[in-house]
Amino acid sequence: MFTFALFNLKGGVGKTASCVNFAYLAAKDGYKTLLWDIDPQGATSFYYKVKPKNKVVIRDLVGKDAELANSIMSTEYENLDIIPADITAKAFDTMIDEMRTSKKRLASVLKQLKSEYHFIFIDCPPGLSSLAENIFNAADIVLMPIIPTTLSVRTYHMVKDFFKEKEIDQKKMTCFLP
Ligand SMILES: Nc1ncnc2c1ncn2[C@@H]1O[C@H](COP(=O)(O)OP(=O)(O)O)[C@@H](O)[C@H]1O
Ligand SMILES: [Mg+2]
Repeated sequence: MFTFALFNLKGGVGKTASCVNFAYLAAKDGYKTLLWDIDPQGATSFYYKVKPKNKVVIRDLVGKDAELANSIMSTEYENLDIIPADITAKAFDTMIDEMRTSKKRLASVLKQLKSEYHFIFIDCPPGLSSLAENIFNAADIVLMPIIPTTLSVRTYHMVKDFFKEKEIDQKKMTCFLP
């Protein structure tokens, strides 16, 4: 299992577009792929026309006894599954709270899927929160879409400083032009 996180401090820079397409291409090449839409805007879930089940509870996703399998849904594409975003603000706040208690929670939850998927793609919300820290710890690579502007370069340095401050391996950070 290899986990990619599509991240940027900024919105509107191509995280979702890249995540959706990379996951699709991996699945098309025959790899068992899971796309986890963590952004409460739910754009990835929208692209794949997948809505969360009524009964999905945030604690099933990131709680101590999380049962991720309950939240995984299939898409119309072979090899491609998705955990759709719970787009309620309350759910998102609960998720952030849950992440505050452990910086490696997401990493340990994802371990459940080790033998199920070759690739996991996480569509991240913008911002540097305890959720972002959890995502960085869980990801093998943090893919950052960056456009060549002064502000984007500044953003890149802010993320790099966050990695340093939280003692996360900076080699995970990879930038690309979307
Ligand atoms: N490589 C690209 N070329 C052209 N348009 C793009 C590209 N990547 C993203 N977009 C467009 O830019 C907008 C924002 O992209 P999106 O992936 O939703 O950003 P984010 O998830 O970072 O907020 C969307 O309208 C999307 O279609
Ligand atoms: Mg997005």
